[in-house]
Amino acid sequence: MIKLNRRIAALKPSATMAAEARATELKAAGVNVISLAAGEPDFDTPERIKQAARTAMAEGLTKYTAVGGLMKLKQAICTKLKRDNGLDYDPAEVIASAGGKQASANLIACLFDEGDEVIIPTPAWVSFVAMVQLAGATPKMVPCAEENGFLLTPNQLRNAITPRTRGIILNSPSNPTGAVYGAEELSGLAQVLKETDIWVMSDDVYEHIVYDGSAPHIFKIEPALKTHGIVFNSVSKTYAMTGWRVGFAAGPREAIAAAVRLQGQNSGNASSIAQAAAIEAYLGAQDEALQMVTEFHARRDLVVDRVRKLAGFKLPNVPRGAFYAFPNVSALLDRKYKGKPLTDGNGVAEFLLEEARVSVVGGNDFGAPEYIRMSYATSRKNLTEAFDRIGAALEKL
Ligand SMILES: Cc1ncc(COP(=O)(O)O)c(C=O)c1O
Repeated sequence: MIKLNRRIAALKPSATMAAEARATELKAAGVNVISLAAGEPDFDTPERIKQAARTAMAEGLTKYTAVGGLMKLKQAICTKLKRDNGLDYDPAEVIASAGGKQASANLIACLFDEGDEVIIPTPAWVSFVAMVQLAGATPKMVPCAEENGFLLTPNQLRNAITPRTRGIILNSPSNPTGAVYGAEELSGLAQVLKETDIWVMSDDVYEHIVYDGSAPHIFKIEPALKTHGIVFNSVSKTYAMTGWRVGFAAGPREAIAAAVRLQGQNSGNASSIAQAAAIEAYLGAQDEALQMVTEFHARRDLVVDRVRKLAGFKLPNVPRGAFYAFPNVSALLDRKYKGKPLTDGNGVAEFLLEEARVSVVGGNDFGAPEYIRMSYATSRKNLTEAFDRIGAALEKL
């Protein structure tokens, strides 16, 4: 066995990517699997954005760019932050990276160190924990109660902060729960955070995929937090551009300059052609996103209705954003399949793949092993068929 770097050896594959890969593998082998595992819109990238990429290629924008992104892209990002979030940034406070994932991994690596604790309210996106661990810091998971809509309360936050706390990562709308913080809730958290100098990271990648009102920004509600605040975002979800790999981080100059140094040594600029496409995404007409959200809204309603009819599934909170439902399946955990008890959300996911040929992601890696994540980034026809299959499969338990 080869000896790996200690932190890499401890690194688990991304649970969401593993579930999606397994579904793709089965489909390639001819098995009729419906995937509710995907973390990406099923829509195509809008034509105006593709056209911008073609033009960029035709005009020879095919060389390295500045490590932190084209000036025009950074300016477009500043325009977007003002227009969509009411936040003032200038280009020196922005880095463009290969997706929101690289942007957040960069800043987490730059700002946290061994001995530091980083608060992650759970259920949370699977990669936050891994990124914090890769930086050598310690994730401090704070479970947020389903009865409280999976939202962190100011009291929980106060109790989680220790002298070693260096950061907190918020994500609203949330992957995997679909929870969205309202202005009042953010203001409660901001009052606590304002008294500290810990880094407040706000991952906004699902900001436009909301169904019941909007997703307010914590730095707009409490501008004082910006001095120790970082925004993460990307074109992936809003513009159906997951494959293009463009995201960004915005924050204080020194933090961004460190991230540019890191990115300059370990990867370089995001694709020049994709950067041109992202400029068009941010500056062009913004109506396609709305159309996508209208469809997601109809699917959300369908999914909530169908999940609530499944024996052993509970979904007390209607997801208000993103494109996931996160039902509680604890009532299934005493049941047996092929003589073996279903032990946790991952076990339920395996059962659903085997018996219903429906792929979902177990809640374990989101820090919530009694849950499963079901993505509705697939057609209503597929969703209807998937729930018919799950209903039939559950009768076999
Ligand atoms: C909460 C959250 N943040 C960030 C990302 C990163 O997206 P990307 O790297 O495609 O911009 C994802 C993707 O699934 C996500 O769910």
